[in-house]
Amino acid sequence: MAFEKMSTILREVDRKGTAALAFDCMHYESIAWMVGAAEQLNLPVIIMLYPAMTNFISLEAFAAITKAVAAKAKVPVALHLDHCESFDTILGAIKAGFNSVMIDGSKLPFEQNVAVTKEIVKVAHALDVDVEAELGKVGRAVNKEDFQDKSGYTSVDEALRFTEQTNVDALAVAIGSAHGFYVEEPKLDLQRLSELNAAIDTPLVLHGGTGIPDEQLQQAFRMGINKLNLGTEYFALFYSSLREYVERGEERPGMFPMWNYQKEKVYEYALRKLALTNV
Ligand code: 13P
Repeated sequence: MAFEKMSTILREVDRKGTAALAFDCMHYESIAWMVGAAEQLNLPVIIMLYPAMTNFISLEAFAAITKAVAAKAKVPVALHLDHCESFDTILGAIKAGFNSVMIDGSKLPFEQNVAVTKEIVKVAHALDVDVEAELGKVGRAVNKEDFQDKSGYTSVDEALRFTEQTNVDALAVAIGSAHGFYVEEPKLDLQRLSELNAAIDTPLVLHGGTGIPDEQLQQAFRMGINKLNLGTEYFALFYSSLREYVERGEERPGMFPMWNYQKEKVYEYALRKLALTNV
């Protein structure tokens, strides 16, 4: 049984001075292949679901698949609801069996972010579920200002007050990353990261992992990031591998060779990314 709490995984990687990778998934393949790759490297992994994905897969189905895969895995696997602003969806995820949830109050003024986060922590912790929150602006990578404007970066003083007041299990911080494909190479503010890491004990999370150069990721892991979120490039890989396969024009088109091709590409990607945590 390898279904594990995210907080346990994050404490363990923190002890080793590195991070665990967290992938936004959407179906059986994206979950099972990621866990399979993590097993090959004997590393923990966090499976995440974007609330919007419930248009394609229910919270219950996603949780059941992840738990079934985790039960047979040789490595720790946590199940996390990514970026959520809805109390009801968070409760639904907890009820479905997610053992970690994110309440994203980062667009709210500080005090309100504290208030909504505290409310979720109260419920989640009572049910032995972990909570991640976000402080600062992690915007969209198509807008340069979203990741280059330092006024949106997480303030050390606020992070300290926020974690003390909310008792969250993980804190997503803004240090120069954003979601999606970057219009310009990002440059993480590692100085701010080391200040945040020195000031607070709560594990720190880096969102917008797609497109951040490997060296910067590894530096960030060494300097206090304990969880890296990856989505866009993982989704894109499912599309591009399928397209590549179709464009090769196999003589005997079929579901199984196509599936194997995609699996090979996904494993290649996952192994390369996961190996970055060996810093
Ligand atoms: P990317 O889609 O940019 O990889 O970011 C993923 C993420 O941060 C999910 O929370």
